Amino acid sequence: MSKREVVEPSDEIVIKNQVYMNEIRQLTEEKFEETGRKQKFQIVTYGCQMNEHDSEKLNGMLSQMGFEEESKQEDCDLVIFNTCCVRENAELKVYGHLGRLKGLKRKNPELRIAVCGCMMQQEHIVEEIKRKYPFVDLVFGTHNLHNFPALLSEAYDSTSIIVEVWDHEGEIIEGLPVIRKYGLKAFVNIMYGCNNFCTYCIVPYTRGRERSRDVETIVNEVKELVKKGVKEITLLGQNVNSYGKTLEGNIDFSDLLIEVDKIEGVKRVRFMTSHPKDLNDKLIDTMAACDTVCDQLHLPIQAASNDLLSRMNRKYTKEQYLELVKRIQVKIPNISISTDVIIGFPGETEEDVDQLIELIHEVKFASAYTFIYSPRKGTPAAEMEDQIADDVKSKRFERMLKEMNGIISAKNKTMKDKVVEVLVEGPSQRSDEVMMGRTSGSKVVNFPGTKDDIGKMIQVKITDPKSFSLVGVKLES
Ligand code: SAH
Ligand code: SF4
Ligand code: F3S
Repeated sequence: MSKREVVEPSDEIVIKNQVYMNEIRQLTEEKFEETGRKQKFQIVTYGCQMNEHDSEKLNGMLSQMGFEEESKQEDCDLVIFNTCCVRENAELKVYGHLGRLKGLKRKNPELRIAVCGCMMQQEHIVEEIKRKYPFVDLVFGTHNLHNFPALLSEAYDSTSIIVEVWDHEGEIIEGLPVIRKYGLKAFVNIMYGCNNFCTYCIVPYTRGRERSRDVETIVNEVKELVKKGVKEITLLGQNVNSYGKTLEGNIDFSDLLIEVDKIEGVKRVRFMTSHPKDLNDKLIDTMAACDTVCDQLHLPIQAASNDLLSRMNRKYTKEQYLELVKRIQVKIPNISISTDVIIGFPGETEEDVDQLIELIHEVKFASAYTFIYSPRKGTPAAEMEDQIADDVKSKRFERMLKEMNGIISAKNKTMKDKVVEVLVEGPSQRSDEVMMGRTSGSKVVNFPGTKDDIGKMIQVKITDPKSFSLVGVKLES
């Protein structure tokens, strides 16, 4: 595996890759003249919004190189897997999918297959790819995504697999082309990496140390997005509450939020993820004061017992979490708090699960991502004794999930007859005559409407709260 320290300044890297992009563009144009058909690609993305956004950057670069997105894999000239390794099942999905591509490559030897993302930051996985999937053409990691045009160019010239993974993050590369998936909503990275090293989590190893983007760069990006019709911005980071620590000057996440809130045309601002240990009163006050900042907070608890929290290295206690929630609920009464929960961490007892269930009832979460603990090679928790048997994990998970779902559904039922403001995103999954929008608290609301409603803020009266979404009717404005 090649390991390089990054020394080139950002604009030189961008210029260098622009040259490669032009070169490949020439190639794709020549192929178009020969065959009358554009070169086609598909990106299969696993994992979180960080990966989604990285795929948007790959998409941007590929479009500049003259490629066209294609939904049918059989018709593609290039398939990219942007992988995730946060839990084992994310990895298994990638291996399964890659295995199925072997036949396609046999039928079409011209097909290029690239694998990138968090899984590739682990040496044992790259070795496995080389051994079991030798038909893969290109492997790269999270830290050198910006080098994709140069690597793709190498892959076109080579008959053997090209592997380039950096084990260190470099400086932040700005100025890459981006093609975004949503017209109305956009993710904006405000920082990369994580310094928290929760003992179960692989992310600090795959995404490197925390680095914040400049306020000015973020504000300019948001302004550009607004010009293109974006109305809702989600600011992204593994721990947004520590935004600014790597920047000069005394700037923090609240200061950034105030700047984004001021931008003309931004209707809604969301952000994730907040680490409970770093969420301060200034942020709560800022959320309450900024009109565009939504009444939504994703505040992962992970576990409720202090013993588990300490062994997870979360750096807060159950009491501190509950006290924080109270402070938020007092200042922002409509706040929707969502969370992440892990069941089956090493050494977990039934009593620990009881404590979690008690906390779920106390906080009354609006929604939750619930996970079964998955040991990740190289993390401290994977080496801990007292790993929990799979069948015990599953039973505890079911027990917790029933309570969590009960709370979410009961909270939804209290919405009957209430009037909510939704930002309309588009037709619902079931019908073109039913529109789907979200409340400030991020609840999905379906209501009879037309495509004219898309992009508007509309008042909807809730008539039929379902377990995980709401149904309502539009109020005449
Ligand atoms: N930075 C965010 C979350 C990133 S990962 C935070 O700190 O909240 C998203 C979620 O995946 C985590 O919140 C955690 O609940 C879950 N997760 C991470 N590692 C896991 C593992 N090894 N097994 C099961 N779930 C895990
Ligand atoms: Fe993982 Fe913890 Fe960092 Fe979140 S804060 S990414 S859970 S190490
Ligand atoms: Fe995200 Fe998965 Fe990587 S959750 S940061 S894509 S390991």
